[in-house]
This record gives sequence, C-alpha cells and structure tokens, in this order.
Amino acid sequence: MRISLSSLALSLALAGCGGGSDTPATDAGVQTRADRVAALTGDVAAGQLQYENNGCSGCHGANGQGTYAGVALNGPMKSDSKVEIINVVLGGKGTNMPAFGSLEDQAVADLYAYMKATFGK
Ligand code: HEC
Repeated sequence: MRISLSSLALSLALAGCGGGSDTPATDAGVQTRADRVAALTGDVAAGQLQYENNGCSGCHGANGQGTYAGVALNGPMKSDSKVEIINVVLGGKGTNMPAFGSLEDQAVADLYAYMKATFGK
C-alpha cells in the first residue's frame, strides 16, 4: 500500500513535469511559429542530416520504424496535420519527446520535408 501510493505520487509528479503544462500564452506562441515553419519549403537532404544529427533517428529509428524510446513515424501518427507535426517537433510532447524549438525555422521545415518524403508524413 505504501509503495503503490508513493509510485502514484511519482507518476503524478512526472506527468506534471511533462511538456503538456505550458501556459496558453506559450502554446499560442509555439502555434504561431509552427504556422510560419509550415509555410517554408523544406529541403529533404538537409532534413535527413537534421534527423540524424539531432538524435531523432536514435529514438524514432533510422527508417522511422520506432524504438523503445520513440514511437514509429512511418505508420499512422497521432498528429494528423503538418502544423501539428511541426508543433510537436518545436514544443516536444509528453515526457519523452524533447522540444527542438532551438532549431532554426528552416531546419524544422527541412525535417518535416524529410519525414514527408521518407515516411509519408
Ligand atoms: C528521446 C527520444 C526522442 C527524440 C530524441 C525525438 N523524439 Fe520524437 N517522439 C518521442 C516520443 C516518445 C514521442 C511520442 C510522444 C507522445 O505522444 O507522448 C515522439 C513523438 C514525435 C512525433 C509525433 C508522432 C505522432 O504520432 O504524432 C514526431 C513528428 C516526432 N516525434 C518527430 C521527432 C523529430 C523530427 C525528432 C528530432 C528533431 C525527434 N522526434 C526526436 C521521442 C523522441
């Protein structure tokens, strides 16, 4: 009983630390940037380098097949629009998808172009 209560407290604490606790103002800022990135034309080859150099392949697999650390990107996704996918990359998601908001807009557009060309997303 004692153990299950403390692990419940731990999972609540972890959930609280996740990327979902942003204020509405922050979310609006990220959304605006995602729209801007979505309007850029990405370069597939540059995006492949970004995918490898930023560790995306480490969690999502070189072919988007997914690993124990990251969901598959080459099948059905939870994110169902270009802007939503870009938003996940910029702002992160849940406890394990890091935010890549420090990347240049063009780099994120390139990443999207690579995922679209390679994984159909
Ligand atoms: C430390 C592991 C890790 C790294 C590094 C990582 N991801 Fe993720 N990513 C995840 C996890 C875990 C999720 C699922 C998040 C969730 O749904 O709670 C995810 C979700 C996503 C999604 C949304 C998938 C869906 O079904 O909607 C996209 C797109 C994505 N990642 C792209 C990237 C890109 C591009 C990079 C590199 C710039 C990257 N990820 C780096 C772990 C990672």
